[in-house]
Amino acid sequence: MSRRIKLLLVPVLSIFVFVGFYFFDNAESSDKGPVQPIRFSHKIHAGEDQIPCQYCHSFVEVSPNPGIPSMQKCMGCHTHITGRDVDYDFNGTNINIQAEIAKVREFWAKKEPIPWIKVNSMPEYVHFNHKRHIKRGFDCAVCHGDVASMDQVHKVNNMNMGFCITCHTENAKNHEELTSLKDCLTCHY
Ligand code: HEC
Ligand code: HEC
Ligand code: HEC
Ligand code: HEC
Ligand code: HEC
Repeated sequence: MSRRIKLLLVPVLSIFVFVGFYFFDNAESSDKGPVQPIRFSHKIHAGEDQIPCQYCHSFVEVSPNPGIPSMQKCMGCHTHITGRDVDYDFNGTNINIQAEIAKVREFWAKKEPIPWIKVNSMPEYVHFNHKRHIKRGFDCAVCHGDVASMDQVHKVNNMNMGFCITCHTENAKNHEELTSLKDCLTCHY
């Protein structure tokens, strides 16, 4: 879409947003997340094993996008960690730790990336930048909830426009910043 068409769409569609705003503002999501090709548990990796978020999502502080870790990152451990032959209750589905890790090793052997299904995504017309939020000191949990306690990551907040604007309004340092953080073109262009 050209910039001009986008700018025209903004006022036309905004009526719908403002209606939506009042009814769905910050609604909590109850979705338990997609079924991924590998049942990768954040509760085990980020929780029990305490691997820091940024060890895997390495780009979060330096680029707009945090990145999903590459196979190399997984194999850094799973070349030697083959896992215990024990069952594990993953969100109500029984898996075997060793068998699940074996699947990772199969992808690696075939030189195929794991086709992870996205959990969060902004529509194309919204601009979101992780770096600025992390630099400002916000914890991942403010937006993503306590991921370290989840087997499958799922949405905790519906990150709709109301969610973004509420926090922008509460955290603006001064009037000038408030104006800029509420400006349509800060998030849409
Ligand atoms: C060992 C590597 C690893 C660690 C440590 C890790 N993650 Fe992840 N993360 C992944 C992988 C792989 C995926 C993609 C699969 C999935 O969604 O479950 C992912 C997905 C996510 C997603 C969903 C991405 C999307 O599609 O929207 C979020 C949010 C996330 N991680 C946040 C965190 C947070 C917060 C922490 C720290 C508490 C963390 N991760 C620690 C590997 C890791
Ligand atoms: C820093 C080391 C480390 C990294 C990096 C790592 N893991 Fe693990 N992983 C472990 C440990 C430790 C276990 C637990 C093994 C056990 O309990 O026997 C584990 C368990 C698993 C399991 C079985 C439990 C579960 O989560 O379902 C899977 C599957 C798995 N890892 C996949 C991955 C994938 C995919 C990646 C890359 C995105 C990855 N791991 C990165 C250390 C790591
Ligand atoms: C201010 C809210 C906010 C904070 C804080 C935040 N995120 Fe996100 N995160 C989002 C939004 C919004 C998306 C969807 C972005 C998109 O689709 O462009 C997202 C997407 C992701 C994704 C998926 C990216 C992809 O390429 O699919 C990962 C992984 C992730 N976040 C990890 C983290 C980690 C790790 C932290 C803490 C270091 C963090 N986030 C902090 C809002 C946030
Ligand atoms: C937890 C509070 C919080 C949430 C939630 C939040 N933001 Fe922000 N955001 C901020 C603050 C504070 C700044 C100013 C950061 C700075 O520049 O120091 C900011 C800055 C920005 C910027 C300007 C950065 C730049 O590149 O110019 C954009 C764009 C933005 N946020 C988009 C979003 C979107 C889109 C969402 C919802 C998906 C969102 N934010 C959710 C607090 C938040
Ligand atoms: C802080 C970031 C932010 C600002 C500022 C912002 N928006 Fe949005 N806007 C969003 C997000 C995020 C969505 C996507 C909501 C979703 O997917 O649920 C959105 C969606 C929209 C949509 C599409 C509505 C729909 O239902 O699909 C329109 C139109 C829109 N915004 C107009 C505006 C107008 C007009 C302004 C200025 C008054 C504005 N936005 C300011 C973040 C922002």
